[in-house]
Amino acid sequence: MLPPRVLVFAGSARKAALSKRVARAAHIALLEAGADATLIDLADYHAPLYHGDLEAEQGVPEVITRLMAVIDQHDALLIATPEYNGSMPPLLVNTLDWCSRIFAAPGRVAGLDILAQKPVAIVGSSPGALGGLRSLFHLRDLLGNLGMLVMPKQLAVGRSNEAVTSEGHLVDDHVRAAMLGVARALVDATAKLKA
Ligand SMILES: Cc1cc2nc3c(=O)[nH]c(=O)nc-3n(C[C@H](O)[C@H](O)[C@H](O)COP(=O)(O)O)c2cc1C
Repeated sequence: MLPPRVLVFAGSARKAALSKRVARAAHIALLEAGADATLIDLADYHAPLYHGDLEAEQGVPEVITRLMAVIDQHDALLIATPEYNGSMPPLLVNTLDWCSRIFAAPGRVAGLDILAQKPVAIVGSSPGALGGLRSLFHLRDLLGNLGMLVMPKQLAVGRSNEAVTSEGHLVDDHVRAAMLGVARALVDATAKLKA
């Protein structure tokens, strides 16, 4: 059987984002866990803030259609999120909201059908001690509402400005092992679903 294809991205478009470092660390862990993992940058899929009038006039942005095509080519997702005021950053909410607005049409699969039953692992990132833990509860909820299978195992990388290098190397052995645990759980669950 082919290895599970896992798409990884951070919930920040910022060039020097700490969550991008954590996403790189997750990508490395997924490769070690046997996944065929792809790392993308949401900066390449920048969509305007969701607005019903904009949607009625122009439809779903082309970047979102492109992003959903990439998501569709993967068996699972891993999202590394920053924490904003104890919750998810607007970039993630906006991106996922737009993704949910692709409706079925001839030759087109609905966004929610692409996301439904797709396994997803979540990891938090913050320069603070809690590692964005509070944001994970909100993200878990949102992804569940999209019909995704959110992995029970998660990780919050605290002090991520020190805990992970810009190349995605997790400095502490325990944190690196925990990231590998998240990656292995996602790969195993995805492989079982594919079997
Ligand atoms: C609007 C806003 C709210 C924030 N709220 C939190 C928070 O609740 N908890 C936290 O740990 N950090 C918070 N931060 C700090 C972010 O964790 C920090 O800016 C982080 O580097 C942003 O993620 P990024 O590096 O991936 O872009 C907040 C930052 C902003 C801009």
